[in-house]
Amino acid sequence: MHHSRRKFIQKTSLSTLAIGAFSIGPKLAWGKNIAPSDQVNIALIGCNGHGFSILKHHLNIPGVNCVAICDVDQNVLDRRTKEILDQYSQHPAQYTDFRKLLENKTIDAVIIGTPDHWHCLQMVYACQAGKDVYVEKPLSNSIGESKIMVDAANYYNRVVQVGQQQRSGYTFIEPIRLIKEGKIGKIRKVNIWSNFNYGTGAIPAEDSAIPKGVDYDFWLGPAAERPFNKNRFHGSWRHFWDYGGGLMSDWGVHLLDIGIWAMAAPKAPNKVITQASNSSTDIRHRETFDSMSVLYPHDEFTIQWDMLGGIQQGPYGKAYGLAFIGEKGTIVADRRSFEVYPEWDNDKKEPKTESLSYLEGKESHNVHVEDFINCVKSRKTPICPPEIGRIAALYAHIPNISGRIGESVLEWDDQLQKFKNNKMADELILPRYRSPWELPKIPK
Ligand SMILES: NC(=O)c1ccc[n+]([C@@H]2O[C@H](COP(=O)([O-])OP(=O)(O)OC[C@H]3O[C@@H](n4cnc5c(N)ncnc54)[C@H](O)[C@@H]3O)[C@@H](O)[C@H]2O)c1
Repeated sequence: MHHSRRKFIQKTSLSTLAIGAFSIGPKLAWGKNIAPSDQVNIALIGCNGHGFSILKHHLNIPGVNCVAICDVDQNVLDRRTKEILDQYSQHPAQYTDFRKLLENKTIDAVIIGTPDHWHCLQMVYACQAGKDVYVEKPLSNSIGESKIMVDAANYYNRVVQVGQQQRSGYTFIEPIRLIKEGKIGKIRKVNIWSNFNYGTGAIPAEDSAIPKGVDYDFWLGPAAERPFNKNRFHGSWRHFWDYGGGLMSDWGVHLLDIGIWAMAAPKAPNKVITQASNSSTDIRHRETFDSMSVLYPHDEFTIQWDMLGGIQQGPYGKAYGLAFIGEKGTIVADRRSFEVYPEWDNDKKEPKTESLSYLEGKESHNVHVEDFINCVKSRKTPICPPEIGRIAALYAHIPNISGRIGESVLEWDDQLQKFKNNKMADELILPRYRSPWELPKIPK
């Protein structure tokens, strides 16, 4: 926890309870005999969907208090305030402007659960305000913003956890351990797939009036001004380039991250070969692709990504997953299970490795959140720092750029932070922020 928080608690713990501005519920925090210096005060920015679920995981940890929540939709803000009060006996202060929230000196850490186009600004501002950050994946909505965010976390020396919670999931950690100890021999290929119905987008809807209680201009923020459309709002914004990257960045960063991790390939991809199209006949509202096949060639193995929005079936009976194909066997993993499928040794007439089946996957969000809170206290680096989020984001943003400009092969120079000989692709490295918002500049 940062020093000002510790000092603040020592000096004013009772008076803060008296004025009732904070959430420190006697039952949940002080009553558990947790020293004020061991408590962590958090705030949530973006409360409708996943951010709120991550907040709940935080509040299940003794000594974590919800001090404030922020949203540009007053309806969401009121609904979530009531739920926090009912379920956790805490009464967070409400904010509609995250910059005001960040001025609140009692906050140690913020969770960023806003659409992807907001992550960069809010994370950098939070770092500048001295807060630690749990930022949802993908790290950002562009290659260039991701780099700025890595620089910000380093420069301001903040603890930042990216919400790629599969890094804390047993059904991925254990297969990676098995791979490293040679269980399936040399890996020749990693097949990764993700087929989800929602990947085609929502049923088309006309533009309409802005719902009461919504500050839509603040929802758009740095993105281009446009009339309100419910499909470009809560939940389904992810199918429009200004705010998200479709299924490719939604599930891509999660699953590709595990492939990158297992193969000890934690660098930006040099070359990406992409086939992106819209093959579904469903009439849906989106800009992003519903079908993508992507190859990430490395010298001794290839990572392959396949996705089909509008489809729920997939290899090994799984809508999504990873298959690590080794010389002795294949490991197939998803969030609930992993299995080892041995290769057959024709000379010895026996399997080349043992088969194995683990089907009791556990929740991983709570482990990921606990890791973050432990690191906030210890100042150690969490399991998914911004650089890991940046690499995973690159694996998703490069194929999307490929599809958007119609160039199937793109080569990326991570040192120079630009594409090799492709000005059109370079144009999409960074978004153009709408005034008055400006891309943050991090001192060198
Ligand atoms: N880790 C995971 O498994 C996982 C799962 C789902 C979503 N996510 C990520 O969580 C994030 C949120 O996704 P979602 O589906 O919950 O979106 P959502 O649309 O349901 O919720 C986003 C909320 O942010 C609010 N918001 C928008 N602009 C804001 C601003 N300037 N200030 C404050 N609040 C603002 C919106 O009003 C809304 O309440 C995305 O980055 C998404 O990729 C991660």
